[in-house]
Amino acid sequence: MAYEIATIPGDGIGPTVVDAARPVLERFGADAGVDVTWTEFDWGSDRYRAEGAMMPDDGLETLEPFDAILLGAVGDPEIPDHVTLNGLMLPIRKGFDQQVCKRPSTLYDGVESPLRGYEDGDIDLVVFRENTEGEYADIGGREHRGHPHEVAVQSAVYTRRGTEAVVRAAFEAAADRAGHLTNVTKSNAQAHGMVFWDEVVADVAAEFPEVEVERLLVDAAAMDLVRRPDEFDVLVASNLFGDILTDVGAIVSGSMGLAPSANLNVDGDYPSMFEPVHGSAPDIAGEGVANPLATLLSGAMLFDHLGESDAADALEGAVADQLADPDAPRTPDLGGSAGTEEVAEDVLARR
Ligand code: NAD
Ligand code: IPM
Ligand code: MN
Repeated sequence: MAYEIATIPGDGIGPTVVDAARPVLERFGADAGVDVTWTEFDWGSDRYRAEGAMMPDDGLETLEPFDAILLGAVGDPEIPDHVTLNGLMLPIRKGFDQQVCKRPSTLYDGVESPLRGYEDGDIDLVVFRENTEGEYADIGGREHRGHPHEVAVQSAVYTRRGTEAVVRAAFEAAADRAGHLTNVTKSNAQAHGMVFWDEVVADVAAEFPEVEVERLLVDAAAMDLVRRPDEFDVLVASNLFGDILTDVGAIVSGSMGLAPSANLNVDGDYPSMFEPVHGSAPDIAGEGVANPLATLLSGAMLFDHLGESDAADALEGAVADQLADPDAPRTPDLGGSAGTEEVAEDVLARR
């Protein structure tokens, strides 16, 4: 099949990892009969500096016809993050109704966890993060700026539709994996939104009697992801909780540079977006040492979403192969000294 893919490399290490990943995706796709045509959009902080906006006014209309979007990262030390993120990435997640954010954390063979005693496959979990509302709702305001009685209000929003979408996706995944589900909540302190959240989980759970459900408060969940990451299977969490827990999941399974993510429009009305979990990493931007594997694994999720499981499996297999090979090049986050390009080219050589 042939697909039109939009790429938004973005800021910092975003262009480094997307440039390295694109030819790899292209070749793995071609091997599996998948013909990918790329269209690149130079949206991001440089555009903001030049034109006062991260993307054009009709950015979403421009992206809508594409089959999928591959995003690098957004964020620039010179521009406030709420300006860059609300100008580019968050409007795509929200505007394209990408309610379900799927973020696997896998400890690959050959990768060292900072936690003692875990190896190959011991950590294998997936977080389903609500992705368009919750604590990220653009509801609130500021008043009396500069006065002693200055006030800021930021409200969280939980709709039955949005909550159900991510909870159902999580239960479906747990049923598929013949696994169990952890509902991450904070209904001890948040008596409105999170009690509602728990009720939706209970409603959907009734449709999946075969899935065992565990309930954890988010603070305990953060602790347990460090204490017993091997015992998790599928987790479901609100937007902010899912954001925080997936950085923990990424690092306990080796590196931020290995964590992929899919922002899914479940109804198929709009394109879905694939991006590494990590950000623009200004501390290493421009050095050519960013790990491209999170982006490649996001590309595998993209293929999978398009129904191209052969391409997805071959690509993920080649990444796993590289990680398991003690002589393979590695970027510094994995203890090596190789550059982004070298690592991507080595994955390509494992076709
Ligand atoms: P970050 O994920 O960019 O970096 C955290 C740490 O992980 C840094 O030490 C970085 O060097 C390391 N790291 C990240 N990706 C790596 C890779 N591929 N290879 C090797 N090391 C890697 O998080 P941050 O520093 O909190 O945020 C930096 C900027 O990115 C901020 O502007 C933030 O708002 C933005 N951000 C954007 C996204 C996104 O676009 N999806 C995600 C997170 C943060
Ligand atoms: C992520 C990022 C974003 C988020 C930020 C940059 C808005 O941290 O994709 O994990 O919180 O969703
Ligand atoms: Mn994050």
